[in-house]
Amino acid sequence: MKNMNYHINTEEKDGYLLLDSGNGERLERFGQIYLIRPDQNAQLKKSLPDREWSSLAHARFIQETATSGKWVKYKPVPEKWAVFFTFKNVQLRFLLTLSAFKQVGVFPEQVENWEYIFDNVTALRQKSPRVLNLFGYTGGASFAARAAGAEVTHVEALKQVIERAKKNMKLSGLGNIRWLLDDAVKFVNKEIRRGNLYHGIILDPPSFGRGPKGEIWKLEQDIEHLLKNLIKLLNPDEHFFVLNVYSAGITIEYFKKLANTIFDNFKKYEMHELFLYDLNNKKLPAGLTLRFNNLA
Ligand SMILES: C[S@@+](CC[C@H](N)C(=O)[O-])C[C@H]1O[C@@H](n2cnc3c(N)ncnc32)[C@H](O)[C@@H]1O
Repeated sequence: MKNMNYHINTEEKDGYLLLDSGNGERLERFGQIYLIRPDQNAQLKKSLPDREWSSLAHARFIQETATSGKWVKYKPVPEKWAVFFTFKNVQLRFLLTLSAFKQVGVFPEQVENWEYIFDNVTALRQKSPRVLNLFGYTGGASFAARAAGAEVTHVEALKQVIERAKKNMKLSGLGNIRWLLDDAVKFVNKEIRRGNLYHGIILDPPSFGRGPKGEIWKLEQDIEHLLKNLIKLLNPDEHFFVLNVYSAGITIEYFKKLANTIFDNFKKYEMHELFLYDLNNKKLPAGLTLRFNNLA
């Protein structure tokens, strides 16, 4: 059976594979390392027996509270190890670590957005496209835009996260991304005042976050204003836009209502849930994405 993660190099040994999900957890392979991580969206039953999960896993993240937990190792895990994602003749490489609160340093469901970004930048290539990536974290979206030839501005609140993304940029054979340690909302306000425009805007805001100076970001409170401002930064002639949201409280209905009030003039926007597919092609919901462009 063909795995439905058509866009992820599931068969390569250094690639990514979701083996199974269910009972509130996922079993994944990141390169050579198998991990079990909690996932509130893994609501169906596991397909593989528990003993298979346990015998494969190098480590499992045990969630203790809503925002904390710990990694339990069953086998040695290197401090850093690599995973590759190949799409559109691009190979992005990420060095992973067992990080705080179940993260490892890449979000595989984003590959679908990376392809969209890559295609849109490619279509704009003759125009010296400028792309803004807000809440940039791992840099995956910035790398996809850069690999297609965009001039990329990446905004992120955490210094150590930027340092890590810079290393992965080099590891992926890329360079010349403009890295900014800044609050996303403040940066957008400054760009509006400066009259700057972008062909592509990408954002993946968390439900709660802090800017570098402790500025509070609350998705439900702040997203509407930010989106309205971002429209002012879009090049009116040629543009694309990618909004991704992964947040427990956000439903597709809320998202649709929000989009209808803000993106009224962008009738052609598409919105859908992102999924990862396991070995049995069982779907694991992995957030919502809204995208539009006005390119031919
Ligand atoms: C959901 S993650 C983005 C994941 C991204 N799609 C990726 O694939 O790497 C959100 C990121 O926003 C950052 N962040 C939170 N609040 C911020 C703020 N006010 N300004 C800028 N970045 C912020 C966090 O540090 C985190 O790295």
